[in-house]
Amino acid sequence: MRVLGIETSCDETSVAVLDVQSAACNVQRAERGARGRVKILHHEIASQIGVHALYGGVVPEVAARLHVAETIALLDRAIGITDTVASRDAGSPFVLRDKRRRAGERLPTSRTARPHRLPFDAIAVTQGPGLATALRVGIEAGRAIAFVTDKPIIGVNHLEGHLASAWLVPANRTRWRFPILSLLVSGGHSELVLMHDFCTYRVLGRTRDDAAGEAFDKTAKLMGLGYPGGPAIAKAAEGGDPSAFTLPRPMMHGKNFDFSFSGLKTAVRREWESLSASARKKPKIVSDLAASVQQAIIDVLVAKTIRAVQQYHPAAVTVVGGVSANRALYAQLKRAIQSQKGTIVMAPAKGLHTDNAAMIAAAGAWRILKGARHDWRKMDAKPEWDL
Ligand code: KG4
Ligand code: ZN
Repeated sequence: MRVLGIETSCDETSVAVLDVQSAACNVQRAERGARGRVKILHHEIASQIGVHALYGGVVPEVAARLHVAETIALLDRAIGITDTVASRDAGSPFVLRDKRRRAGERLPTSRTARPHRLPFDAIAVTQGPGLATALRVGIEAGRAIAFVTDKPIIGVNHLEGHLASAWLVPANRTRWRFPILSLLVSGGHSELVLMHDFCTYRVLGRTRDDAAGEAFDKTAKLMGLGYPGGPAIAKAAEGGDPSAFTLPRPMMHGKNFDFSFSGLKTAVRREWESLSASARKKPKIVSDLAASVQQAIIDVLVAKTIRAVQQYHPAAVTVVGGVSANRALYAQLKRAIQSQKGTIVMAPAKGLHTDNAAMIAAAGAWRILKGARHDWRKMDAKPEWDL
């Protein structure tokens, strides 16, 4: 089965075509991993980061307009929707003016995929959670394609997409056995999810305020390190002393699996504001504070994940979502989990940590192969959709 994936929930427009053999979604507990083939035939991500960086964060209206500018061109290159649609290289009539236009003209970051015009059997589109107007761009495109082609469509939960991102790695699939504990850490979510089967989850805990990615983004912003904050903090933290500043580890020792990061942001603000203007310009001080922030976030994420491992004894742990691109987090999580007998850690491949349509097509395939379908006439965005 070939699934066309469409993702427009936040600040990346992405389209993918995924080829999935049903055996890949048929993992029996006793079996040694799934056998079926899963292949990304086409994948493009048009990142809007360059535009939103001008504003220090995602501007929803700008995000939606840029999705409008990119979606048709990306779809045309993936599946060849019509010969009359201007190709992306011919430019879009909707690209924004003025300074946004200058940044917009650099879109997308990934221009590597060849135009394919691939046949496909089903459509998977992110239905939520996310920015309502941004989600609607992808959903309307998906609905139109479903109407015209009469192919089945499924609205995918973006969080389920992140859970599926680790499954796209062949080596992970051969070791894919349930239950799987997933640490899902992105710009909008921090959750610990127990996966009992494909599409069967139990959320053990989630953030009560800021998500882990948000903590990176907000602290980077107040330190003037730019957007998105995760990569900026990680880069600034290189060579820094993670114990230079004493920062709180909110809820780290709590009995539940919930997270809270807004107190950390407040503590970082206090530290930053207590520094003199000249101290704030010293690379060593900035590096030390960035390293301390990163370590505080990692300590909480690792401690909660280990406690969930001890309580639920999963066969494997996955770490997914934009924050899972953080190498220090992955290294420390791996080290901590190696001490828990028999548990392995799996992560997405490079480039698939942050938002992308391949993971949406993968989660869509899980659902479609279980017989799920949506009626395109009734599909609308679900901006607050929980897993
Ligand atoms: O999954 P994602 O692309 O979007 C959401 O679904 O929210 O995640 C984006 C988040 C941002 O907060 C960004 O700062 C964070 O992922 N991020 C990172 C790194 N790369 C991206 N955080 C820490 N370290 C990184 N290397
Ligand atoms: Zn995401």
